[in-house]
Amino acid sequence: MKNNSKRFLLTYIFTIFLLGLSLSSYLIIRFKNISVLGAVLFGILIFAADNFSVPLPKTGFVSVNFGISLASLILFGPSTAIIVTFISSISLRDIFKKEPYYKHFFNSGQYLISIGVTSWVFEVMYSRELDNIFIPKHIGIIFLAAIIFFFVNTFLTASVISISKNIKIFNVWVFNFAWLLPFHIFLVVMSIAISFLYKAYGPFTLLLTLMPLVIAQYTYMLRTNERKALLNSIMHIVKIVEAKDVYTAGHSVRVAEYSEKIARKLKLNEYDIEILKNIANLHDIGKIQIDLSILNKTEKLTNEDWFEIKKHPVVGFEIVREITFLKDNADAVLYHHERYDGSGYPFGISNEKIPLFAKIISVADSYDAMTTDRPYRKALNINEAIEELECNIDKQFDRKVCSKMLEILFEELNAMQIQT
Ligand SMILES: [Fe+2]
Repeated sequence: MKNNSKRFLLTYIFTIFLLGLSLSSYLIIRFKNISVLGAVLFGILIFAADNFSVPLPKTGFVSVNFGISLASLILFGPSTAIIVTFISSISLRDIFKKEPYYKHFFNSGQYLISIGVTSWVFEVMYSRELDNIFIPKHIGIIFLAAIIFFFVNTFLTASVISISKNIKIFNVWVFNFAWLLPFHIFLVVMSIAISFLYKAYGPFTLLLTLMPLVIAQYTYMLRTNERKALLNSIMHIVKIVEAKDVYTAGHSVRVAEYSEKIARKLKLNEYDIEILKNIANLHDIGKIQIDLSILNKTEKLTNEDWFEIKKHPVVGFEIVREITFLKDNADAVLYHHERYDGSGYPFGISNEKIPLFAKIISVADSYDAMTTDRPYRKALNINEAIEELECNIDKQFDRKVCSKMLEILFEELNAMQIQT
């Protein structure tokens, strides 16, 4: 990250922290009434829950801690809820992982703002003298509080990811957080149950209500771990394929990186970008079936060799369509050697029949092939590769996709010139 962006990020983080601290101090002074027993019991619970939370696709974590915060708000009011929520921002995992100090400040700040705004609205609307959670007005207020917390919390987190990774905030939010909304609603129901049982039968009921929370969290952990494990094995297979071909080490990763950059220029959404990256990593996986003697041949390839090589998009397609979350876009592997003018392989289809993902991978793949040494020719430099790409617009490449790749390369050239 450049110095200016880092300075902006740090200023933003400390502003969030100071805002959170001021808001929560004000609310504690205004509403007073801290329940020591509530803060200790719910504090222990939330600390444990937060330290067993689940990694999100891009960054950040999901845990059941909001359910515990909300229950402490319903039972004891804003001051206790603020203390309990603050405890949840102390993450042992971040401390052990030696995460940068400003991450702790951001977490504390954003949690304090989220619970501060939520508990303020809640306390003003909720009639404590009625002492009944289950009247429709109170159920409505609890859900409203949950929605306020969800949006403030997720948009604050998305904002910092957006600044640090230079991705549009809405894209970050949709990809990382939108899918959590049903889980969040489930936590509201849990927090109502926790509050009711605690009020009716005392603190020991926390042991009973804790179990469904732990199970819910464990289920989410399994789901995210399963996808992570699958992606790791995919990357292992890619490395095996590249180890077979001495000329293409790192090729798939570079193609995936350029594909992502092109996709961002084309303003694709984060879901599509993630799928495209995975597909691009796998675009040559079909080469696993090609004989080593052909892949590493230094002399001119024969017609028979080409016949074998040209099978790899079909073989790759057969493999990728077996992967559940990639199967809908597996045709990008099948068509990544098709050309805009119909002169490619394996089917010779042209322009409108070629899917966008295949067009993107084709440009990224060709650029990387041009700029790396091959047995039959030396690598082109960036200027020569730009010329080659320009010459092949409307022949090999789609104009729109190729022009985005050219924009990226001109930016890289500019950056190189500034450095020298
Ligand atoms: Fe290929």
